[in-house]
Amino acid sequence: MRTSSKFLTIFSAFLCVLTIEAIVVKQESSLYGPYEAGTGHLAYWGLSGSAHLAETAIRLTPDEAAKQGSIWNNYAILSNDWEFHVQFHIHGKGVHLNGNGLAFWYARDPLTPGPVFGSRDYFSGLGIFIDTVENAAAPHNHRHPYLSAVVNNGSFPYHHDEQGTAGQIGGCHLQARNLEWPSKIAISYISDVLTVFLDTQGTETWTQCFRAVGVHLPTGYFLGVSANTGEYSDNHDIVAITTLDNIIPDKIWEDRSYLVPYAEYLEIPFVAEPPPKAEEGEATSSSLFGKAVYVGGIAVVLYVVYAIFKKYKAQKKERKHRS
Ligand SMILES: *[C@@H]1O[C@H](CO)[C@@H](O)[C@H](O)[C@H]1NC(C)=O
Repeated sequence: MRTSSKFLTIFSAFLCVLTIEAIVVKQESSLYGPYEAGTGHLAYWGLSGSAHLAETAIRLTPDEAAKQGSIWNNYAILSNDWEFHVQFHIHGKGVHLNGNGLAFWYARDPLTPGPVFGSRDYFSGLGIFIDTVENAAAPHNHRHPYLSAVVNNGSFPYHHDEQGTAGQIGGCHLQARNLEWPSKIAISYISDVLTVFLDTQGTETWTQCFRAVGVHLPTGYFLGVSANTGEYSDNHDIVAITTLDNIIPDKIWEDRSYLVPYAEYLEIPFVAEPPPKAEEGEATSSSLFGKAVYVGGIAVVLYVVYAIFKKYKAQKKERKHRS
């Protein structure tokens, strides 16, 4: 509880420094421990999948394979400017073999389980992913754990097996596993600018992960956090959550409920078509190769027939000549 209010005060102060205009922060729904382990009921929030209340945290997944769990706010965000602060703790037995990670959402469809860190693919809205899996097989230019933010209008799949960063508007590397203290993320969405701050030291020292301008998100979406485990696992714990409505003086509220999520600047483009699976790829290339051999073979046969015919004609001509 103490941590939570301290967190808030620091952050409000931080905000005032950041913005010239004063912002009135209206606290909407906060969540902090101790929780009543086993009850499974929270005001304003819904749990799904493996998510359950432990004493000091909401455990989205235990440190067991193939689990997915999430927590979503029951009320849509109607404010144009908001903040989402989450204190989380990722920890497990694995030293290098662990997975998969956490996702922070501002999305149209809450409580929809799926493959993207425990939530649905082809999502509409904002997804901020903390991928804790070091995937040596995939080509990428960043270290893990890696935080990546994606704005999707529901038309693109999430490519977890590659870099998981298609459509990224910003990202950064962070320490996020097996730390003694919980980490904190502060997601700030003010005047179409999305900024993500992290405190991974447990010392109230905030660092900016990224700042993206020209991010257009509708009103009426839901805040949530989800996690999943695969073959390898981790405990994905949520220690505290705060959602804030920021009221900027003199700013006229806009009904943005019909806006399609859109980011003006992408760091990494979307992958339009999912790449063919390795087997399919081989099959296509081998059938192509087969076709080439077939066509080539016919050409060779035709040429040989032609050559023989020519030779035969020449011989016939020669014989005719001699006689
Ligand atoms: C969704 O995003 C893609 C890529 O930015 C774009 O081509 C498409 O038109 C968008 N759909 C809508 C409904 O805006």
